[in-house]
Formats: sequence, C-alpha cells, structure tokens
Amino acid sequence: MTKINHIGIIVDGNGRWAKEKGKSRSEGHKAGAEALEKIILYINKESIANYLSLYVFSTENFSRSPEEVNYLMELFMKWFKKCKEKYKNANIKVLFSSQKEFIKSEIVKAIDELEEATKDNTGLVVNFCLSYGGRQEIVDATKKIATAVLENKLNINDINEELFKKYLYNDLPDVDFLIRTSGENRVSNFMLWQISYAEMYFPKVYFPDFTPKCLEEAIEEYEKRDRRFGNIK
Ligand code: FPP
Repeated sequence: MTKINHIGIIVDGNGRWAKEKGKSRSEGHKAGAEALEKIILYINKESIANYLSLYVFSTENFSRSPEEVNYLMELFMKWFKKCKEKYKNANIKVLFSSQKEFIKSEIVKAIDELEEATKDNTGLVVNFCLSYGGRQEIVDATKKIATAVLENKLNINDINEELFKKYLYNDLPDVDFLIRTSGENRVSNFMLWQISYAEMYFPKVYFPDFTPKCLEEAIEEYEKRDRRFGNIK
C-alpha cells in the first residue's frame, strides 16, 4: 500500500447510524468514537499516513441541542484524558485546530495536556479539527499576518503561499486524500486551504461502520487516481 502523506476524514453519519438502529444520537457518537479509535490505531500501526486530520466538531455544530453538544464535549474530554498515556507511548503526536474561545475551560485543559504529553513524538501526527471552521482559520491567519506587517515584523512583499501556510492553526502539509463518510458529497468548511488539490472520496457507509477494511478500500481507490495538480501528463 502506498503511504499517503496527509489523510483528512470528515466524520459523518453517527446520528443516522443511530436512527436506523433505533438508538439515541448519543449512542451513535459513542459508536463513532469507538470506530475512530480503531482507525487511528490502524493508521499508526500500519504506517498508512504521516498526518491524519479529523473533523470532529465544526463551529456550526455548536448550534445543535445543548444536550447533544454537552454529550459530545464530555465524550471528547474523557477520550482525550484516556488517550494521553496511550498515544504518548504509541509515538502519536496530537495537535488541535480549534477556536478555543468557544470551548469550556476543562476541555481546553484536556486538549492542552494531550498536546503537551505528545509534543516530542515523531510518529503519526493526528490533527483534531474541533470547534473548527476553514474560513475562520484563513481569517485568523490573515489577522496575524496583518498584525506582523503593522508591527514591521513582516514585509508585504514576503507574503506568499508558503508563508501564509505557517500562520494557519498548524503548519501542516496539504491534504492528499479527503474521505467523508455517510454519502454526503461536500466539504463543509473543512481545511479549505489545505484541501486545494486533495483527491476526494465519499463512501456511503456511516462513520460508526467505517472499519479499517473500509479504509483499505478507500486507499485502493486513491491509488487508482491520476493526480496531475493542474498539469498535463
Ligand atoms: C458526525 O455525525 C459526527 C459528529 C458531529 C461528531 C463526531 C464525533 C465523534 C466521532 C465522536 C468521537 C470523537 C472523538 C474525538 C472522541 P453526525 O452527528 O453529523 O451524524 P448525522 O449527520 O447522521 O446526524
């Protein structure tokens, strides 16, 4: 299997998975978390990618019912605490692309601790997009750049794509392969800068049913793609 530099996954379909099974949305998210854990560990164990970005909570998701938002935040917090030692020992480095001002302080604490515990790891980089929006990430980078120019730390003529990238929430390579589960064919504000040349794949399966085997099928599909980056072969 080809190693992919950066895989992005838009986690989708937990709610529909639950509804079809007569379960609550919370049960769907719990099943989604279990599926996600297997996918992360599989990608790490099999060295499938160098970077994995996961869209687990958009800023728009805050408009869901308070019960659902609270359940998800509790689930994230418990999960991040649980992962700390495990990921540290598995050489996984965890990053967050987040607007932290919208997240409760105890969750920010769990996020910061997980980043800190894994910061020296050299294996798979897992970037959680949580309380995230792609347009806002670009706006925030622009503000930082404008501030640097105003403070005479940066010359306007030095602004280019390479420099802009460094001002995003995390300085990550472009996403090569974007997967969105549940059959929805859209990108919903996910890593707009980084997915410019990504190959996209939209399997019908709801995320709780997205197994390592489904991932392998996705990669087989990726391997068939002819990536030209605007060029002619
Ligand atoms: C999308 O399904 C899923 C979410 C908005 C939350 C993602 C969360 C998890 C997978 C939980 C695990 C993550 C961690 C980091 C523990 P949906 O609710 O939009 O599904 P629907 O479109 O079918 O309603």
